[in-house]
Amino acid sequence: MDIVTDPTSLRETLQGYRNAGQTIGFVPTMGNLHAGHLSLVHRAAALADRVVVSIFVNPMQFGPNEDLDAYPRTLDADLARLKAAGVALVFTPQPEHIYPEGVAAHTKVSVPGLTNVLCGASRPGHFDGVTSVVCKLFNLVAPTVAVFGEKDLQQLLIIKKMVRDLALPVAIEGVATARADDGLALSSRNGYLTSEERAIAPGLRQTLIAMGNAITNGERRYSDLCQHHSAQLKSHGFDPDYLEIRCRSTLALAGVDTQQLAIFAAAKLGKTRLIDNLQLDL
Ligand code: PAJ
Repeated sequence: MDIVTDPTSLRETLQGYRNAGQTIGFVPTMGNLHAGHLSLVHRAAALADRVVVSIFVNPMQFGPNEDLDAYPRTLDADLARLKAAGVALVFTPQPEHIYPEGVAAHTKVSVPGLTNVLCGASRPGHFDGVTSVVCKLFNLVAPTVAVFGEKDLQQLLIIKKMVRDLALPVAIEGVATARADDGLALSSRNGYLTSEERAIAPGLRQTLIAMGNAITNGERRYSDLCQHHSAQLKSHGFDPDYLEIRCRSTLALAGVDTQQLAIFAAAKLGKTRLIDNLQLDL
């Protein structure tokens, strides 16, 4: 497995793959890899000849009071897992490789509309940081396909729009959320949870399932449904950030006629912010 940290060596190594006629499948990550990340790697391997993974804790997508410094960095363990998964190349740049003049001086790629709601509303600038780095990584890696998780459904929709709007020559593939046995969506941030919080955490997914069942059984008073379940989350010890039912393509609030829905949830448990979603087709 090749491990490269600077963009010049990256381009040289990847040119070797392309000269050999091999296609590249790309999985961008921030490391601290778990089975969810590995499911993206396996999908990329099914779709391309060579899999490239990036590990970069992207400072541009963290707010001033967020967990950039505390974000778990486990490079050795990550590399071992990627090697075992048959990955061809891991790109592990330092911030100065991606932002040579600093984050504030770097060009931004900003997707309008979809970024104003949900995590975009509660984390100002977050998605600009995501799209700016992902666009740059796409240009460095030049993959034929890139794979993202539905765990971050809003991120996936935003990246698909960026690729359409900028005519980037890459196919975007989404992969279902990998979960622990009790339903909790796997996340690098789950490691922040105390054992008491970890016991409560599956309640977020259970709330989404209860709401999904209500909708499947005909409930259309979406605003009441969200308010009721948000109160339930609070009573279980969560501090809900949002709980909303939206159209899965435009992210507009769902109405009685919306057929492709997703219920989006973000809630804090102590210091840890958890997100999850449930997709529904009516
Ligand atoms: P990160 O949180 O490391 O996630 C990398 C990829 O793994 C994302 O596409 C995310 O949706 C996916 N993922 C995370 N948990 C998952 C799970 N339980 N099941 C399936 N997929 C899961 O998302 C980012 O990094 C960054 O924003 C990034 C795109 C790398 C840009 O910096």
